[in-house]
Amino acid sequence: MIEDLNLQREYWTRRDLLKTGGVLAAALGVAACTGSSTRSISTPGGAKFIQPNELTSNNGLLELTLRCEGQTIPYGNGTRFAYTYNGTSPGPTLRVRSGDRLVITLENRLSEPTNLHTHGLHVSPLGNSDNVFIQIAPGQSHVYTYDIPSDHRSSLCWYHPHHHGMVAPQLGGGLFGAIIVEDMHEQVAELANINERVLILNDPKIGKNNAVTNASMMEKMQGREGGDALVNGVFAPMLSAPAGTLELWRIVNASPSRYYRLALDKQQLQIIGTDGGRLERPYAVDDILLAPGERSDILVAPTQQGPYALRTLGYDRGSMGMGGGMMGGGSTRSSNAQIIATLNVSGSAPAAPLPKVLAAATRLDAGSATSQRDIELAVGMGGGMGNGGMMDFTINGATFDANRVDISASAGSTEDWVLTNTSAMDHPFHLHAWPFRVIERSSGPADPPGWKDTVNVPARGSVRIRIPFVDITGRTVYHCHILDHEDQGMMGVIEVA
Ligand code: C2O
Ligand code: CU
Ligand code: CU
Repeated sequence: MIEDLNLQREYWTRRDLLKTGGVLAAALGVAACTGSSTRSISTPGGAKFIQPNELTSNNGLLELTLRCEGQTIPYGNGTRFAYTYNGTSPGPTLRVRSGDRLVITLENRLSEPTNLHTHGLHVSPLGNSDNVFIQIAPGQSHVYTYDIPSDHRSSLCWYHPHHHGMVAPQLGGGLFGAIIVEDMHEQVAELANINERVLILNDPKIGKNNAVTNASMMEKMQGREGGDALVNGVFAPMLSAPAGTLELWRIVNASPSRYYRLALDKQQLQIIGTDGGRLERPYAVDDILLAPGERSDILVAPTQQGPYALRTLGYDRGSMGMGGGMMGGGSTRSSNAQIIATLNVSGSAPAAPLPKVLAAATRLDAGSATSQRDIELAVGMGGGMGNGGMMDFTINGATFDANRVDISASAGSTEDWVLTNTSAMDHPFHLHAWPFRVIERSSGPADPPGWKDTVNVPARGSVRIRIPFVDITGRTVYHCHILDHEDQGMMGVIEVA
């Protein structure tokens, strides 16, 4: 079975995709079926690229209300139902600086509890800061106050609900938005005239009412994937840029379960930031895998006229591993290939110079670890038939209990965690509050470099991460960022004191 998976992964090479005629389709501005499965086109592409509204801090403060509400919003030539922040999905982009205070009044106009998590912000998980144990009942509001440290590095973070048991339907329904932290010490001359765009990827089910937030038992076990991937709520938008300019694309995978392996036709991608913020220098790749929760800041320097498709190459994220029977032949779940957006370049010009140095050598130091912990991600029969046929999704043999502390670590220590996935499907592992470095992967090199807060742990694979428990103390969580798995309990509690 594993050999099969690898074969299938290899099958989806970029060359194959180019061969199957996606380029022509891109020129026409329509989606092409570039994978092995044929799928009809649900919405015409080529719509205008739009960015979420942006709210910027002033004199060290950004204060706003986020109202969560189910609404009918524009989609293509019609409408669709979505959960919205202030009437839109994605919600507004929040742009702050290191040292700022961010104050958010969250107003719950859903018919179920919700709350707010600022994924990637290096802030306290206690009190009214990034505390995921807070619950906000329907009709209630809550004021969150986040003090962003003065040495917070430039980074792309995001916000979304974190109410255990309801995260996948609420986020899949449309509740997410970007947070951009700018560090004034990381101003880079070559980036001064950059064309900066936020691209939030998500794949909602399209429909007229809140039934779009439902999922079958099988979808919950595999991790729900909706329809087409959208960029800021728009299908396959068209971006335009003159040759010789520098584009900065800040990409968030805000999908509950869908993986993206992104590649831009005939162009290299220069990664300048990962989940944990700016890299020290650009890092060139042909494609980049973004598991749910991961982010990437990339530079694109177009030189020649033409349409260039930004594609997600297919990605096979494994199966339930049941092999036939009631689970239906092992139920493979792969994230489909698709054109995500098209970059239309006009004219021709030499490439804009890339910055050589982006950020000073990191203040955080991965150093060496003082201790090691083994973390096992598993899928088992568990409750079996008694659980309605639902599998158990566990970390170190247990499902989530908010009243239990699973890991106690001491403030100031540095730990290595060896994340081992014994199941036949991938799980993206996310730790709140403390960024980490990827030290070693069973599947190959530990790149790209940089700090992370989410890392994919492939089926039957393992990853070693190194975590300095500095700056922040308190109790928070780590979990699988396939949000249906998190909702089913694939989450643990950590306390650092
Ligand atoms: Cu983006 Cu605990 O999650
Ligand atoms: Cu998080
Ligand atoms: Cu998982």
